[in-house]
Amino acid sequence: MTTQNPLGLKKIHHVEFYVGNAKQAEFYYRKAFGFSRHAYRGLETGDRDLTSYVMRQGNINFMLSAPMGPEHPAAEHLKKHGDGVRDIAFLVEDADHAFNEAVKRGATAVTQPHDWQDDNGSVRHAAIATYGDTIHSFISYNNNNGHNYSGPFLPGFISQEVEGEGVGLMIVDHIVGNVELGKMNEWCDFYRDVLGFFRYITFDDKDISTEYSALMSIVMSDGQHNIKFPINEPAEGKGGKSQIQEYIDFYRSAGAQHVALLCRDVLSTVAKLQENGVEFLRVPDTYYEELPDRVGEIDENIDELKRLGILVDRDDEGYLLQIFTKPVEDRPTVFYEILQRKGCKGFGKGNFKALFVSIEEEQRRRGNL
Ligand code: FE2
Repeated sequence: MTTQNPLGLKKIHHVEFYVGNAKQAEFYYRKAFGFSRHAYRGLETGDRDLTSYVMRQGNINFMLSAPMGPEHPAAEHLKKHGDGVRDIAFLVEDADHAFNEAVKRGATAVTQPHDWQDDNGSVRHAAIATYGDTIHSFISYNNNNGHNYSGPFLPGFISQEVEGEGVGLMIVDHIVGNVELGKMNEWCDFYRDVLGFFRYITFDDKDISTEYSALMSIVMSDGQHNIKFPINEPAEGKGGKSQIQEYIDFYRSAGAQHVALLCRDVLSTVAKLQENGVEFLRVPDTYYEELPDRVGEIDENIDELKRLGILVDRDDEGYLLQIFTKPVEDRPTVFYEILQRKGCKGFGKGNFKALFVSIEEEQRRRGNL
């Protein structure tokens, strides 16, 4: 296991979504997921091309951006992919170093290092490409060039606080990428060779094959275990369409499949999300009959878990509680995982089968099997 960090990554700074209507997306993330609006840029701040809202809950920052016209590259992104993740942005020690090192190690440059500034100071910013049309920005606040920023978020944004009723979401646990058939190893090598990540866990089709929804997955992690990016590729099912292929067909390329958000009390978080109207996948009730044998002693009441539809899985170190939303767009693409970890560092392998049976049921209803 390596602890090298060649790019000087510190953590995920924010996740930027390109959406068709940022104003309405803001309302959805605030009212349904309990985020607070924290910052804004748009016509009122002199931004005539792109409008963005920064949504915050715990240590999670989501930027929701919509193009103001067809000329902005976001419009092309939306036309092709629908709403989706554009940028998984890292806070880094030095954006120039991160960018130069990444490009030297084989990354494709998207944005050259540059100053990003307003009256509150400046940051350094650069970006490289990852799977599909997704990018990784590098942002540094303090480096040898004396960059320092005191504004509410990033240069160009004004503070705009609209309080949401938080549901207890704390931090991004992992972000999963779906890549094309045969491309998983290539992208895992990219995260290894360019970002210095290592293979944390591998799931093959024996772990996660049902009749249709077969997939392969490798979890890549940074040396500090702060950032985990599982990479999925479709695998041959028994004649149906893998859920990963369904995503790729509708997203029209590789892209981010789900963002997993960690919470401290999954029962109360999920109860609030359901009250707010967030739609979750449900597994058959028989899942809960088999649960005690599979996971042994747990602190939670099984009837309560069943009522909310929360799943449990165990590894050597403990257990985790997790649940998955349905896709949050019309296209069956991006969705969320809500999870709580009680020692377990896994990803819910024991739930794959039950989950994929429900996903196939959804795919069948969509006419996509
Ligand atoms: Fe996940």
